[in-house]
Amino acid sequence: MRLVLIGAPGAGKGVYAQYFRDKYCIPQISTGDIFREEISKGTELGLRVKSYVERGELVPDEIVIEVVKKRLQQPDVQRGFILDGFPRTRPQAEALDKITSIDRAIHLKVSEEVAVKRLSGRRVCPVCGRVYNIYYEPKPKVNEKCDYDGAKLIQRQDDNPDVVRNRYRVFYDTIKPVIEYYYKSRRLIEVNADKSLKEVLPVLEKTLINTGVLKLTPCRDVKIE
Ligand code: AP5
Repeated sequence: MRLVLIGAPGAGKGVYAQYFRDKYCIPQISTGDIFREEISKGTELGLRVKSYVERGELVPDEIVIEVVKKRLQQPDVQRGFILDGFPRTRPQAEALDKITSIDRAIHLKVSEEVAVKRLSGRRVCPVCGRVYNIYYEPKPKVNEKCDYDGAKLIQRQDDNPDVVRNRYRVFYDTIKPVIEYYYKSRRLIEVNADKSLKEVLPVLEKTLINTGVLKLTPCRDVKIE
């Protein structure tokens, strides 16, 4: 199963990707996570992308495409993968089709109002990358601590309101050609991501199974909270 997740900041790309990753044991490839890790390690790539990520601007296509190309050469993508936050521009979508074949692109449609509230409550585990929310499920069982490894949860630097607004503007300015690209090639699935995960995920999963995109057997039981 080779999926692409498209959605504005706060649409839930990370939590949807996490669900499929955990249940079917396929990697979640988040370009945002890769950049944040490189920035925190102070690598050459991190230094090149730091100012874009901090301002909520798109990193130049040639850098992102190179990063994804390299990542998709790793052996763990054999059974499939979920791309979270890539492609974000038409040249990225076209480049991706030259690197590999994509089964479906899922557009998680979220209203700005809902997404802003979600982002203000988002907390992330710095150790395993799991995403929580202090207002919505999945909430951490113990206040501000990861359920899996007990690490103290953190807030992302780019979740401050000014940067969030800029990320929104950038998303809506650039995403239309990407959505059209997948619509025209009959690979687009649109989902109302304002709804709860409980309402959306079972329907989405069934659609993927019924269309023959999802043929994998679950590797563990994952509950939607
Ligand atoms: P990236 O890390 O991709 O950030 P983003 O697109 O702004 O998306 P977010 O991670 O904020 O949102 P999400 O949809 O994953 O939400 P989540 O699942 O956490 O990119 C960061 C930066 O990197 C970019 O600004 C850019 O600079 C650069 N970059 C990355 N990729 C690039 C590319 N391809 N090209 C160029 N530059 C690139 O959910 C949010 C919160 O809501 C969570 O707390 C979650 O628990 C909660 N939640 C989610 N869904 C629900 C629901 N249905 N009900 C209740 N709560 C929910």
